Amino acid sequence: MNESAIRAVLERYPRLIADCERHKALGWYPSGGEVYKFAVRPSFEAVDRFADHVFGGIGFEPDDYMLGPTEFGIDGYGRRRPELSPEAQARHHAIFNNGLVLECRAIMKSSPGRIDDWTRLIGDDGRFGGIRLPFSVGSHQGLGTLHALRMARRAITVSDLMRGHGRCVATLVEIGGGHGRSLRDLIWMFGVETAFYTDLPLNMLLAARFLGHFFGDRVNLVWSEDDAVVAGGINIIAPWLIDRIAVPVDLLVNFYSFQHMSMEALRYYGDQLIKPRAAALYHLNREQRRDSFDVAVPDYPFRDAFAVEDAAEFGVSKDGQNRVLSRIVGELMIRK
Ligand SMILES: C[S@@+](CC[C@H](N)C(=O)[O-])C[C@H]1O[C@@H](n2cnc3c(N)ncnc32)[C@H](O)[C@@H]1O
Repeated sequence: MNESAIRAVLERYPRLIADCERHKALGWYPSGGEVYKFAVRPSFEAVDRFADHVFGGIGFEPDDYMLGPTEFGIDGYGRRRPELSPEAQARHHAIFNNGLVLECRAIMKSSPGRIDDWTRLIGDDGRFGGIRLPFSVGSHQGLGTLHALRMARRAITVSDLMRGHGRCVATLVEIGGGHGRSLRDLIWMFGVETAFYTDLPLNMLLAARFLGHFFGDRVNLVWSEDDAVVAGGINIIAPWLIDRIAVPVDLLVNFYSFQHMSMEALRYYGDQLIKPRAAALYHLNREQRRDSFDVAVPDYPFRDAFAVEDAAEFGVSKDGQNRVLSRIVGELMIRK
C-alpha cells in the first residue's frame, strides 16, 4: 500500500465518522470505553506505522509497547511509542521468548503438523513498525512480534476445528476484528475467497492499512451507502452497513469482542448477520460478564440458532489487581 493509497483512505475518514454519528441509534454503537475512539484523528504517520504508535482497543496490549497500564491510557492514543530502555528491551525479549516456548508447546500438542503454518503467522516484516524479535523454531527462523505470537495459534485452532468438521471456508466474516490480523491469518489458512471485516471506525481505518498491505486491490471499503460489496474482495464494512452482506457465510468469527458488547449490540449483530447468514460461528470470549452492560456467554442472544460442537477453555481473564474474573472459552457452533 503506497503513500497515496493510505492518504486516500485517510481522506475518507472524516465522512466515516460523520456517518457513524448518523447511524449510531441502530444498535451496534459501543456502550463502554470504546466511545473514545470516535474522537481520535490519527496522523498519516500514525496510520502508516501504527505499531510504532500507541493504540488500545485494536488488539495491542501494554506489553506490546512495554508501557504500564496508566501510560497505555486513552489520552495518549495515536502518539509515537517511547523507545525502549535497554532494561525494557531485555524484559520484552524475555516475555517474547517465554511466550514462544508456551505457544510452541501448545501447538505441538494440539496441531503438530501445523508448525510451518504457525511460524509463517508469527513472522512480521516490520512494515507497520512494532518491536520485532528473532525466533527460531526447528528449521524455521525469522523475526516476529509479541502481538503476532499471541494471535497465531487461534487461526490454527479454528482451521483445525473446521476441517475436523469437514467444513471449507470460502466466505468469512469477522466482527470486532481489531486491526485485521486474525482475519489475515484465517484468510491465509483457509484460502478464503470473500471476506468481510467489521469493527468501529478507528479500527476500520487501521485495518484498511494492515489488510491493504497484504491483499492490495482485493481490499474494498464499504464505508458509505454508495459502496457495493465485492465478491472475491476483502470487504471492510461499516457496522451500520452489514445488511449488505447478503451471501451465505461459511464461518463468522469473534475474538474478545462480544465480551465488550451490550445485549443491544449483540442483538443487532445477531439479527442482522449472525442468525440469517452464518453456517458456523467460532468465538473466543470471557465467559462471565465484567461490566454492568456486557453479557455472559450463556446469554448471547443468537445461541439458540446454533448447536455447540466444540468448547474449550483458553486460560482466564484477570482484572487490574490480578484477580481472576472468568474463564475464557472458545466455542465452535454450527447452525441447527
Ligand atoms: C479486545 S479488542 C479485540 C480485537 C481483536 N479481535 C483481537 O482479538 O485482537 C475488542 C474489539 O471489539 C471491537 N468492538 C467493541 N465494540 C464493538 C461494536 N459495538 N461493534 C463492533 N466492534 C466492536 C473493538 O473496536 C475492538 O476491535
